[in-house]
Amino acid sequence: MITLTINGKTQRFDGDPEMPLLWLLRDELNLKGTKFGCGMGLCGACTIHINGEPTRSCVTKASDGAGKVITTIEGISSNGTHPVQQAWEAIDVPQCGYCQAGQIMTACALLAKTPNPTDVQIDSAMNGNLCRCGTYQRIRAAVHKAAELSTSATKR
Ligand code: FES
Ligand code: FES
Repeated sequence: MITLTINGKTQRFDGDPEMPLLWLLRDELNLKGTKFGCGMGLCGACTIHINGEPTRSCVTKASDGAGKVITTIEGISSNGTHPVQQAWEAIDVPQCGYCQAGQIMTACALLAKTPNPTDVQIDSAMNGNLCRCGTYQRIRAAVHKAAELSTSATKR
């Protein structure tokens, strides 16, 4: 039996501990916001946070999540008002949308550590999240916008 904390809730899993954490999230817990892309840790579609670090859930075993704090796209805000979500909406980032949950999770982790990133810092942090639709320019603009929104929220 594995015990995990996912989006603030305690979850117990008594299946195969070697199973990818992504399967546990999507198939057992119905958290479908996290996407399956390559299954090999290469595209970033399956990015979640484990103890605040952006992590590829397709190449992470369910057992590696035991005792850790796990956040998925569903857990970053209860009502879609996280500054990164607001910025994504304002800039209208997504095209097909498939990669965007992973992009947002990586952006949130970047901004938690680097509240006002430069273009170079953004490009370097977002580098492993691939977008077949090529929304990279809008992603960069939205990360800057999210930084602005977070700063103005703190000043209020
Ligand atoms: S699905 Fe996990 S990195 Fe591509
Ligand atoms: S928006 Fe289509 S893959 Fe990124």
